[in-house]
Amino acid sequence: MKKILVVHGPNLDLLGKREPEIYGHETLADINAAIEAEGASLGLSCVFFQSNYEGGIIEKIHEAMEDYDGIILNAGAYTHYSYAIRDAIAVVKKPCIEVHLSNIHARDEFRHTSVIAPVCTGQIAGFGSYSYILAIRALSHLCI
Ligand code: DQA
Repeated sequence: MKKILVVHGPNLDLLGKREPEIYGHETLADINAAIEAEGASLGLSCVFFQSNYEGGIIEKIHEAMEDYDGIILNAGAYTHYSYAIRDAIAVVKKPCIEVHLSNIHARDEFRHTSVIAPVCTGQIAGFGSYSYILAIRALSHLCI
């Protein structure tokens, strides 16, 4: 079974409470359960990781070099300025789907730039928690 690493960045641990008008009412546990179920139906096993720390996210992404077949990454605000996370994705050389709950292109100007997008296979943004479901489907298409 192919193994997918699902990484959630800063403040995503507060989903459900955090600006629900933007990010919805589902908790991170709800979202992970939906990703896990979709993954299982596609023959993919998922491992979930959330951190509010850049270094923790980077070290987890490094593990994908040996241990995972693909990555789903919502880097939160790090998306917009973390060259270190970008470099980690680039070194791992595994398909990585960038995910956002909100449509970052329709929000504040600083959110329009993703410094990680150029090293990701693709970006899915704006579909709420369904962005993650689209991402796992995209990975199943790429990883098989
Ligand atoms: C986000 C969008 C980012 O701009 C923001 O900083 C987040 C969440 C999203 O999923 O819509 O933390 O990545």
